[in-house]
Amino acid sequence: MSERPIVVETHNLTKVYGDGAAIRALDGVDLTILKGEFLTVMGPSGSGKSTLLNMIGALDRPTSGRVIVNGEDLATIKDVDRFRARTVGFVFQLHNLLPALTARENVEIPMYGQGMSEREMRERAEYLLELVGLPDRMHHLPSQLSGGQRQRVAVARALANDPAIILADEPTGSLDTQSGAEIVDLLETINRDQGTTILIVTHDPKVARRTRRILTMRDGKIVDDHRVESLVKEDLRELARSNLGKLLLSGEKERVLAEIGLDHLEGETAIESLRRLLQRLGE
Ligand SMILES: Nc1ncnc2c1ncn2[C@@H]1O[C@H](COP(=O)(O)OP(=O)(O)OP(=O)(O)O)[C@@H](O)[C@H]1O
Ligand SMILES: [Mg+2]
Repeated sequence: MSERPIVVETHNLTKVYGDGAAIRALDGVDLTILKGEFLTVMGPSGSGKSTLLNMIGALDRPTSGRVIVNGEDLATIKDVDRFRARTVGFVFQLHNLLPALTARENVEIPMYGQGMSEREMRERAEYLLELVGLPDRMHHLPSQLSGGQRQRVAVARALANDPAIILADEPTGSLDTQSGAEIVDLLETINRDQGTTILIVTHDPKVARRTRRILTMRDGKIVDDHRVESLVKEDLRELARSNLGKLLLSGEKERVLAEIGLDHLEGETAIESLRRLLQRLGE
């Protein structure tokens, strides 16, 4: 198997906000992301997910530690604007489109200053809007588009300069379930067909399980980093985290039986098997 190139490397990445009662938003994060990966970052509010994304995208500077993206050490790059425009594509929870510009013009924005002619920019924007499924919305303003459509435009804009990585911070956070699922479909297709590396921050386990690697953060640290091998295993992991799972794992079989109204003969064996299955998964 050929080694895939590394797209992102962080070494002991630390971000401290304020002094005195300082907050360690990132606390010594070591992370490697390979080309073509499709992964999510989960974790409770305030655990450092957005801070991590902002460091990788050079939107903010670390207190200490290193970030290397596409072989470039972000501490030493001269032209940060150029790096942001060429190497990373951002998608935020709120699409951040400019309200006075059409969909096509919004997609063209990151292409300015990249040595493209107006015609090349227009053609690329049209190609990308077709790619995200909006061939007939080129000239609409953001206010004339649905939330899901606006987020598609944001995805097209993120792809403008064929970035090394797309950083999406809760891209489905402000959408209804259906439009959110469609955005994840779109990101999955882009990852598969264009080979674009995609990192999504999400609170939604349903979004996470669509990707192939799930990082979990807590208090500025990555506390879990696991591969999504099978969806059945993901279901079991979710069950283990649920109320039922917690009851089973703590051995409260009696309570489970009582709550679902099963007598011992019927339920005991099944519940015991399930408990062992969950235990084995946690080992
Ligand atoms: N500009 C800032 N100044 C001071 N503290 C900050 C700043 N940005 C973030 N923090 C703090 O750093 C910690 C991590 O914030 P971050 O935004 O990365 O969390 P998050 O995991 O993205 O949370 P959420 O799920 O709510 O978006 C939080 O405690 C937050 O209050
Ligand atoms: Mg956040």
